[in-house]
Amino acid sequence: MALGRSYREAKGETAGGAASEEPLLRVEGLSKRFQGVLALRDYRLSLRAGEILGVIGPNGAGKTTLINLLSGFLKPDAGRILFRGWDLTRIPTHRIPALGIARTFQNLRLFPSLTALENVLVAMTVQHPPGVLSTLFGFGPWGRRWQALRDQGMALLEQMGIAHLAERPAGALSYGDQRRVEIARALALQPQLLLLDEPTAGLHPEESEALIEQLARLHRERRIAILLVAHDMPVVMRFCPRLHVLNSGALLAEGTPEEIRNHPLVLEAFLGRPRGSRAA
Ligand SMILES: Nc1ncnc2c1ncn2[C@@H]1O[C@H](COP(=O)(O)OP(=O)(O)O)[C@@H](O)[C@H]1O
Ligand SMILES: [Mg+2]
Repeated sequence: MALGRSYREAKGETAGGAASEEPLLRVEGLSKRFQGVLALRDYRLSLRAGEILGVIGPNGAGKTTLINLLSGFLKPDAGRILFRGWDLTRIPTHRIPALGIARTFQNLRLFPSLTALENVLVAMTVQHPPGVLSTLFGFGPWGRRWQALRDQGMALLEQMGIAHLAERPAGALSYGDQRRVEIARALALQPQLLLLDEPTAGLHPEESEALIEQLARLHRERRIAILLVAHDMPVVMRFCPRLHVLNSGALLAEGTPEEIRNHPLVLEAFLGRPRGSRAA
């Protein structure tokens, strides 16, 4: 199917559309330039509901730019981002989370003096406007809903294995646990697509392993689509059945971890091996 169908068509409301084949996310011709730097060029991507895709590449490859574009933090210079039929490039940034896309940040962006639970509850303002803030501060006619929201927030922390840290200031938690709060906060938006920007960066190998294990469990339970960006190869190789390799803003290769490990262009670009030679 060609790009550029209307929302009605994308939802299968017109005759002849194979709606069930329409991916959750479809990106084509996506480009973003910063002054002289082409951070992303003519990138394409297709992701089905519930699918996991890993995007790997060296520093400066354009991975964070991709997440910024998909989450609406940046608008592209060219290309389209179709999510559930919506062209996100035409939708105001603040509306995008409510459509079902949540993200985390390479550099953590929590409210350090709020508790872990409060960080999650604040995110719920997107899903439950407008009463949550008044609820948080104990006034307004929201008393009963307050308890329900707290319960939901606690369930998310529980899912990330940090319910026991709910009342601690986020800034006092270990780096790995702050990452967990950030993921719980993203889940509070009830996304269909979760964008994770280097979730294991700065973690020790055992911590990375534990976090990835938790993400895998989360995915089994919730079946949300996940786009995980990383340069930590073992992590993505284990978690992601399908990979994209970005290099200098361009899609260099795609395939299974096994295919990527032996891909001649990848070997040449990242390991300095000439084409045709085999991985050790
Ligand atoms: N806001 C920005 N202003 C100027 N240049 C940027 C900006 N964001 C990213 N870049 C540049 O775009 C390229 C890709 O960056 P980025 O997407 O952060 O890569 P990655 O996340 O893969 O390390 C880099 O050359 C980077 O310096
Ligand atoms: Mg980055």
